[in-house]
Amino acid sequence: MIVPVILSGGSGSRLWPLSRESYPKQLIRMLSDCDSMIQQTWKRLSNLEAVDPPLIICNQQHRFIVAEQMQQCGAEGASIVLEPCGRNTAPAIAAAALIAHRNGDNPTLLVLPADHMVERVGELHQQIKVASHLADQGLLVTFGIVANRPETGYGYIKGGAELLGGGLVLDHFVEKPSPERAKALVSSGDYFWNSGMFMFRAASFLEELASHQPDLLAAVTRAVEGATEDLDFIRLAETEFAASPNISIDYAVMEHTGKGAVVPSDIGWSDVGAWDSLADLQPVDEKGNGGVGDRLLVDCKNSYVHADSRLVAAVGLEGVIVVETDDAVLVADRSRAQQVKEVVALLKKEG
Ligand code: GDD
Ligand code: MG
Repeated sequence: MIVPVILSGGSGSRLWPLSRESYPKQLIRMLSDCDSMIQQTWKRLSNLEAVDPPLIICNQQHRFIVAEQMQQCGAEGASIVLEPCGRNTAPAIAAAALIAHRNGDNPTLLVLPADHMVERVGELHQQIKVASHLADQGLLVTFGIVANRPETGYGYIKGGAELLGGGLVLDHFVEKPSPERAKALVSSGDYFWNSGMFMFRAASFLEELASHQPDLLAAVTRAVEGATEDLDFIRLAETEFAASPNISIDYAVMEHTGKGAVVPSDIGWSDVGAWDSLADLQPVDEKGNGGVGDRLLVDCKNSYVHADSRLVAAVGLEGVIVVETDDAVLVADRSRAQQVKEVVALLKKEG
């Protein structure tokens, strides 16, 4: 059986001011009128065979909204694992793996970020089947997207020899390269982006953690042993979980493992990470302008205006993003959308 592990711990700071720590992007209806991104993540698996109820791992402050949204989208029997604090994806996935493997079942885990878009769901299902066979052979499988621009926010994967039944050996993994290195990797034509989705048997992942991150595995094991359960929530022990190193699966395991594989996946994937990528996913008018809400644009080009609570009028903008909400307005150069997280960091610092 496949146990989907849905990661929902990010705060989506590059999509401020719409995405907030208290109500992050994966819980918002960003790209659909009826479903939030976490609901779309689960619904994307419908019709896929042999899928168990999902295990969702999120911060404890989001527990009721996550539970409500999962119920709304028919995720019967979902378990919700609550983190007392964010320690990034390696500890989160470790907790999910330990919980899923509690009875020694060694299930196949399909790790899914709660905040991505996939256009070709049928193709995704095909690649999940390929990945599942590779996972049965003890491999840690990534889903690779052809890298076509020097994006620095992604992991880069070089594929090696072909594997029986599809996929390639993972030759090399580089997480978040510098701009110069990203350029070199893309122009070599040999690299895929890591989509951030993974598939492996729970025991394979835990073995890799034991060799590359023993302190992390020890801390998270204690947090799971000390966990308490109420309703559908599994609450990780606070002090023990907080003692884990704060590190992503990419740096902790994927850059070091000798058991990686990559399944090239032409699935129409996008990471809805920042305003520019969100804008790219939406329809535009003949001048390249997009957006939602009550807008009035005069002589604007390639701009994106999101009006949440009032009319937004703009004149002569080019390549600009404007996001209006009840209590904050963002105005940013479209090519610098990644830097919106610096605004959030400053706001935090100023308290
Ligand atoms: N439960 C939990 N706890 N989830 C978390 C935490 C945490 O502490 N931190 C992040 N997540 C969730 C996010 O909500 C997101 O769904 C997913 O894990 C990935 O985290 P990001 O913070 O968005 O990672 P990233 O975008 O910088 O990089 C990852 O994704 C890229 C593709 O989008 C890496 O895997 C890259 O290699 C990859 O290219
Ligand atoms: Mg991301």
